[in-house]
Amino acid sequence: MHKVINYAHRGASGYCPENTMAAFARGLELGATGIETDVQVSKDGKLVLIHDEQLKRTTGAEGLVKDYDWETLQSLDAGTWFNTDYAGEKLPSLEQLFELVKQKDTILNLELKNGFIQYAGLEEQVITMIKRYDMVERTIISSFNHYSLALCNKLAPEIQTGILYMEGLYEPWNYADQVGSTALHAFKYAVIPELVTEAAKHGKIYNPFTVNEVPEMKMLIAAGVAGIITDYPDRLAALLEFN
Ligand code: G3P
Ligand code: MG
Repeated sequence: MHKVINYAHRGASGYCPENTMAAFARGLELGATGIETDVQVSKDGKLVLIHDEQLKRTTGAEGLVKDYDWETLQSLDAGTWFNTDYAGEKLPSLEQLFELVKQKDTILNLELKNGFIQYAGLEEQVITMIKRYDMVERTIISSFNHYSLALCNKLAPEIQTGILYMEGLYEPWNYADQVGSTALHAFKYAVIPELVTEAAKHGKIYNPFTVNEVPEMKMLIAAGVAGIITDYPDRLAALLEFN
């Protein structure tokens, strides 16, 4: 049986403030073999890892990520909202994450957060950095913006991409082919075992999100998914030990 990739969603976000270096490091300690994170762009063009377009929820600051320069973003506290033990955690850059994993064999799942805000040049910038860190073989780019993925596939067909979606796409392998993607990053309830089997016949893999309960993990492993995106990589690691 293939080894299911254990993607820590926004790092080990069940235990640490999401998308911080603490969360990424904890994910690896807990047995994650991959890290999923969300990529946006600061006003001065730095690739910054944060889920929401708005800063409010995780830093308390007003306004949008895109309207702040990197230096100002670095002055924000991205840990306290979760737990005061993490006071002073900063918003990481994509470079910092690459530095963390470059000497390891961790797989990166970089979600481009360009569903609402169009960041000009984001795709080129991310691809350039993946190549600079020699991470082509162990990075997958994902997005809910499938035009953006189609552009990635055109710019760098050697880098794998995964289409993110919430509901029941009809024959998603055919749709993924149109976009030029090989992976189906489906919301967990849009995954049924027959689809996983059929997708495999068409050369497509599933990496469902966000799967936090052990029975769901078991079902998806048995169905043959390639990876699972979870806030609790320790739970998945424990299951995978016996698979
Ligand atoms: O990449 C899987 C998952 O992260 C997509 O949704 O909102 O958690 O970024 P979201
Ligand atoms: Mg995400």
